[in-house]
Amino acid sequence: MKMTMAAAASFMLCALFFAGSGGTHVEPTTEAVATSEQVPSTLPVCKTVGGGSVFFDVQFCLEALGSDGRSANAGTDYHTCSVIAADLLTANATTTAAKIAGLLLRDRGGKGVDDEATTLSLRTCEALYGGVVRRQQSGCAAVVRGRRSGEATRCLEEAASAAEQCEDGFRKSKVASPVTMENDDAFKLAKLAVALLRMAS
Ligand SMILES: *[C@@H]1O[C@H](CO)[C@@H](O)[C@H](O)[C@H]1NC(C)=O
Repeated sequence: MKMTMAAAASFMLCALFFAGSGGTHVEPTTEAVATSEQVPSTLPVCKTVGGGSVFFDVQFCLEALGSDGRSANAGTDYHTCSVIAADLLTANATTTAAKIAGLLLRDRGGKGVDDEATTLSLRTCEALYGGVVRRQQSGCAAVVRGRRSGEATRCLEEAASAAEQCEDGFRKSKVASPVTMENDDAFKLAKLAVALLRMAS
């Protein structure tokens, strides 16, 4: 079995090699492909914080920072990267709060789209994300910018915890969470910002 797998693997590697080298000689688009696969400038930063984290990986860091144009010039400036991550968190939490408000509005519409447990969990999340957005706007983002790392870390950890509490509400009520992905993103963005901040100080 193992031999068969190894043989299959080496066959596939050969196939890939030939496909690759064939492409190099024949395809005129090779240069464009190489350019689009350029090493992102945030790779060293993301390798450092993602490699050392149990909360998010290198790929998450690359995708998150890469979604903000400012990261192209951030280089290995951990402070700038932490500001970007904190801003992404604000934007993320704002969108999530709006989504939750929309779901609750639909529930209030009289049709009772969701069961009571789901609605109650959503209300808890509404309050939690409302708090995150309020804190981000009324100081958290500013203390990250101002390199006040103690306060900033506390703020960001509160945001991470809010996302966890939101998800826990659904789990405890044994109902499906309609915001699992959003909670996961907010949690990881907050942890990413914390890790970047730690490296910056
Ligand atoms: C939230 O953050 C994640 C991770 O960076 C990203 O993939 C997603 O597009 C963001 N969503 C919004 C609505 O900002």
